Amino acid sequence: MPITFEILEKDIAGRLGKLKAGDKVIRTPALLPVINPHLQPVTAAEMKAMGAEGLITNAYIFSRSREFREKALSLGLHQVLGFDGLIMTDSGSFQLSVYGDVEITNMETLEFQNAIGSDIHVPLDIPTHPDSDRHQAERDLEVTMARLREAKEHLGPDAPLAGPVQGGKFLDLRENAGREAGELGFTFCPIGAVVPLMESYRYGELVDVVMSAKKGIPISSCVHLFGAGHPAMFALAVAMGCDIFDSAAYALYAREGRYLTPSGSAKVQELHELPCPCQVCRTHTVDELMKSPERERLLALHNLQVSLAEIARIRQAIQDGVLWELVDERCRGHPQLLKGYRALLNHGKALEGSDRVSKRRFFYRGAESCERTEVRRFQALLDRLVLPSSVLISLDGREFPGFDLTLPFKPPFGPFMDELRETFPIGQSEIPDWDEVMVASGCRGILRLVETHRECRIVVSCQERWRDIVERMVPGIEVIP
Ligand code: GUN
Ligand code: ZN
Repeated sequence: MPITFEILEKDIAGRLGKLKAGDKVIRTPALLPVINPHLQPVTAAEMKAMGAEGLITNAYIFSRSREFREKALSLGLHQVLGFDGLIMTDSGSFQLSVYGDVEITNMETLEFQNAIGSDIHVPLDIPTHPDSDRHQAERDLEVTMARLREAKEHLGPDAPLAGPVQGGKFLDLRENAGREAGELGFTFCPIGAVVPLMESYRYGELVDVVMSAKKGIPISSCVHLFGAGHPAMFALAVAMGCDIFDSAAYALYAREGRYLTPSGSAKVQELHELPCPCQVCRTHTVDELMKSPERERLLALHNLQVSLAEIARIRQAIQDGVLWELVDERCRGHPQLLKGYRALLNHGKALEGSDRVSKRRFFYRGAESCERTEVRRFQALLDRLVLPSSVLISLDGREFPGFDLTLPFKPPFGPFMDELRETFPIGQSEIPDWDEVMVASGCRGILRLVETHRECRIVVSCQERWRDIVERMVPGIEVIP
């Protein structure tokens, strides 16, 4: 059976969806915790009890394991791990990126993944390091694409195959790879080789790479961000249209004695409190946790619960249309995440098209809010206003005789028709006292109106305080002080 993906609701480029593979269905965005059969600080049964609907494991490890290979082949992966949800298997490409070589071919790993009953199989793609040069990225990508074609040809269009998108840091390669994967019929596309970017907090570059891949991947395909990551970056990634995460972070951080929170992490010995509602944190003091022989496992349990809860919070935010607010909150947790957030806002044109039309609210949170999709879309719609021959835009609420129409003004949006006072985003936007950045943003709306209505006389009335900004943003505008 092919992998299918149904989109139920949208926010920014994020989606609430249903991923079906074989007879398994999971809600997305989803986190597939990584499980290694040899070392399970958290068991699959515990993952299920925490609400994980799917998980991911490494087929290469199973295929090389004296202990697990035959068991998996005879009993199947679900039985061996004790998990009846969705199980995705990775191919060994990660080992390839770490050790430079693996002792398995593309078709061997795919046949093995099928034989052990995996729900989603990954071909042996080549993860190109983001610092590789173009020549290397192109050569690697050719091999990856040949393997995707080989997989489809041998296993048929309905095999539950993932189509990894590579291309290194080269944005055109990423876009083409995404497009080709779509053309080959892949409905589930992981974006690969981004772990080195995330490990070194290069979120600005990550955003450009993901946005480029997304441009090529069909909008209806489910997108997996391979190896992501820290829960603080999930909201940003979902806003770009990533639907699936697979994370070993819960276990890797636990091994280092690190305690995850939705917006960052801390060394557990530096904490005085465990400020989290999970069972581990509510039943241990920091001291007890530090001294416990089960310390690593307890930390892993906490870390995974924080990660799964963040995914649930993101799904709720999409439902409510408040994903921008969540992205804003999370991305202020680290300067490099803020860089990623700003990079995402620079892709406003691409995001505006996929964002939904009406939302529960728009909370102004500072300069970044002026670049949000809702502001761009509102201002783009000003082009289509039908105006009479003379119009007053009133920033101060005053009215003057001699105008055919008076438009009120709300920053960061701009002038609006009074009939739209109660509709989104004017009616549902909460802003503090006006500041220069938001007024300048609203003036972009005035400029847009002026530029698209040259036949109309447009005059602004405003307090002295805003006059300079209006005149600077809208050159030549007539202002009544
Ligand atoms: N895990 C993390 N990154 C990758 C990748 O690029 N490819 C595969 N197959 N697995 C990964
Ligand atoms: Zn906890």
